[in-house]
Amino acid sequence: ISMVIKNVCCIGAGYVGGSSCSVLAWKCPDIHVHVVDVSHDTIKQWNSHNLPIYEPGLDEVVKECRGCNLFFSNDIDRAVREADMIFISVNTPTKTYGIGKGKAADLQYVEVCARKIAEVANGPKIVVEKSTVPIQAAQFITHILAANTKPGVSFQVLSNPEFLAEGTAIENLVNPDRVLIGGEESSGGESAMEELTWIYHHWIPQHNIITLSTWSSQLTKLASNAFLAQRVSSINAISAVCEAIGADVSQVADAVGRDSRIGSKFLHASVGFGGSCFEKDLLSLVYIAESLNLPEVARYWQHVNDINHYQRTRFGQRITASLFNTVTDKALAVFGFAFKKNTGDTRESPARCICSQLLEEGARINIYDPKVERQQIMNDLTSTKATSEPERIQKLIHIYTDPYQAVIDTHAIVILTEWDEFKSYDYKKMLSVMKKPAFLFDGRKIIDHEAVIKLGFNTHTIGKKF
Ligand code: NAD
Ligand code: UGA
Repeated sequence: ISMVIKNVCCIGAGYVGGSSCSVLAWKCPDIHVHVVDVSHDTIKQWNSHNLPIYEPGLDEVVKECRGCNLFFSNDIDRAVREADMIFISVNTPTKTYGIGKGKAADLQYVEVCARKIAEVANGPKIVVEKSTVPIQAAQFITHILAANTKPGVSFQVLSNPEFLAEGTAIENLVNPDRVLIGGEESSGGESAMEELTWIYHHWIPQHNIITLSTWSSQLTKLASNAFLAQRVSSINAISAVCEAIGADVSQVADAVGRDSRIGSKFLHASVGFGGSCFEKDLLSLVYIAESLNLPEVARYWQHVNDINHYQRTRFGQRITASLFNTVTDKALAVFGFAFKKNTGDTRESPARCICSQLLEEGARINIYDPKVERQQIMNDLTSTKATSEPERIQKLIHIYTDPYQAVIDTHAIVILTEWDEFKSYDYKKMLSVMKKPAFLFDGRKIIDHEAVIKLGFNTHTIGKKF
């Protein structure tokens, strides 16, 4: 394959496909970028003022490029036919059925894309797999494509995993620590890698672009997420020790992180990690290790996830225990429902799990989150996955758009997401309308604890006893 890339298509207009291709279009005005999806609603939103995802800076980028060299549509066939290079950015959730249920990555959507490309391609194509996949996925995409080659049609498959984090996606895409391009060691593979490198060169320096084998590339993605999750679980495990012996996990994290070999990032103890990927990718790694008959390796990574569940449950139990061992019929104000700040995403949010735990105990919860839509919260807490009694649970949930209203007549404030605005609230004013004794549980360690204790709150946080 030898060509200059003029047309790029991306299948999957989710967090990754939508934001990465918007930045690609912005940085490469000479390239026509067409993002497609099966969902009509999602595409309608990408073409409106109200984008389907919230990311700081994304609106501006889309506004500048949409209609010029960035297009969103449901016309998958046309986009694939016209493209020289096709990114696959569809979801790869944990399987909920059959072999590998609860652990293995579900590759059905990736496979549909491979078959679609094979069906409609009418010329040479470079297929770039951006979704996070287990290590054999590029092989089976190659297999499907190879079995469907027609005269004049050829395929090269590359792996180009995405490392953006939600809430900082644009920043991460514009200035990534590194970009991985994995491909086959053949002349076709190498020239495809050069084509993709050429695209990234529009804004990323050569020394930040790593070319490697397809398998190394895919495994690096899973390993990176596993290492990050492992750091959070490590500091959370230490936080439990701190609570038991009276040490302060922030002091420990700060001092540990000053060792330049360890580093200070991702050592913030919390109510546990959430998001669509850490748990999914850890479980995918566990499944791969099991499949390769490496049970010790599987157990090691499984435990990183187990500690995360332990941390969430432990915090929920501490709330109930502190409120005199019962929350039944007590109103509690919950601040934050997203899995981290600066996103409206609630996938695998620790808040879902802790709210469910409190609802199970019969608590009434008043939820406020600056970005999560009311309907999303309701769906998350009343779905069949969350509860067997949706009607009873629904009556216990109230959603607020004003945090000062949410705290009226509550026994406690529970902080579950680290939104900056929670730091600057007037907690004195809040305390005055709450039941006494009033409690504050800071699951994210973001507010000034000495100050709220002085105001009269019974204060609890992770990894420290007052
Ligand atoms: P998402 O669920 O937000 O988006 C996936 C989109 O693909 C959906 O809009 C869906 O309708 C569409 N889709 C599914 N099958 C399709 C098909 N056959 N044809 C056309 N469209 C189809 O998912 P996401 O968060 O963007 O994640 C995508 C992949 O990227 C996953 O593998 C994930 O692990 C990985 N990833 C995600 C993040 C993140 O922060 N969200 C970061 C890095 C990597
Ligand atoms: C994570 C990775 O950071 C990205 O590099 C990766 O591309 C992405 O997963 C993915 O593959 O989907 P993301 O899940 O968006 O990104 O957000 P993170 O910033 O990694 O946070 C994950 C969770 O860990 C959040 O719930 C966060 O609150 C929690 N966390 C993070 C902590 O509890 N403590 C920390 O010190 C850091």
